[in-house]
Amino acid sequence: MRLAGARVLVTGASSGIGAATALELSARGARLVLSGRDQDALAGVAARTGGEMLPADLSDPSADLAVRAGRVDVLVACAGEGWSGPLTRMSGGTAERMIAVNLTAHVQLTRLLLPGMLERGRGHLVYVASIAGVVGVREEAVYAATKAGLLVFAESLRYELPPVDGAGVDGKGVGVTAVVPGVVDTPFFARRGRPYTRRRPEPVPPERVARAIATAVERDRAEVYVPAWLRVPARLHGAAPGVFRVLARRFGRP
Ligand SMILES: NC(=O)c1ccc[n+]([C@@H]2O[C@H](COP(=O)([O-])OP(=O)(O)OC[C@H]3O[C@@H](n4cnc5c(N)ncnc54)[C@H](OP(=O)(O)O)[C@@H]3O)[C@@H](O)[C@H]2O)c1
Repeated sequence: MRLAGARVLVTGASSGIGAATALELSARGARLVLSGRDQDALAGVAARTGGEMLPADLSDPSADLAVRAGRVDVLVACAGEGWSGPLTRMSGGTAERMIAVNLTAHVQLTRLLLPGMLERGRGHLVYVASIAGVVGVREEAVYAATKAGLLVFAESLRYELPPVDGAGVDGKGVGVTAVVPGVVDTPFFARRGRPYTRRRPEPVPPERVARAIATAVERDRAEVYVPAWLRVPARLHGAAPGVFRVLARRFGRP
């Protein structure tokens, strides 16, 4: 889909990957609708992109973001929260909230934005998931479950929607992209309460994920791993789950 002139709603646009994506999309000519909670941070991104601000707390089902956003050609579902630790130490409220923000809010947003895209005959949906949702991660069970949910939501929707013809030009159809980042250098880890302290894999800059997202929309890519080598553990997990589990138990400690 051509990004120039497209109206793009980015959730999580106030920080990290979402903010970098807003800047990248704006550089490619998109018109931005920026959502997040931190109004000062959103204003900073709005000033650099000329985007419209739409503050919302996605844990609140009454946030009504879809109605307030109006026409949306591309949704970048990026807002997300993490939490790390043994499941027995996680409160019910934290689990519920994470599922609401990472998964439910984006399912509902999609449900409400899709009719407009179908009516116009074109659109694109991008879901920022995580490698955690493909292979699972010790002490991040609920987070990983929300991201697995997004991945299979995207995969299923792709079967249901009219396929894109003429990617890169103004093709008809509604594209769906699942983004699978590994470790990205953003405030995510500090905010979840457990900083990232491993030496490897080395965090990638959020701008790299942002470029991958923009290109995926333009070329209608179904799935994007960032960095690309992350496909290897994902494939190993699919092809030889027993071997993967042995390796993950040995090397996958936080
Ligand atoms: N960093 C990584 O290594 C990594 C790896 C894989 C996947 N991801 C995913 O990438 C996405 C972006 O994360 P990031 O790394 O860029 O982290 P980040 O810098 O912490 O950004 C998270 C974004 O989500 C928004 N958000 C969080 N809770 C929200 C809520 N209740 N309502 C509305 N917005 C909310 C935040 O808005 P406010 O700041 O305004 O509250 C912020 O814009 C997340 O879905 C994350 O799971 C990150």
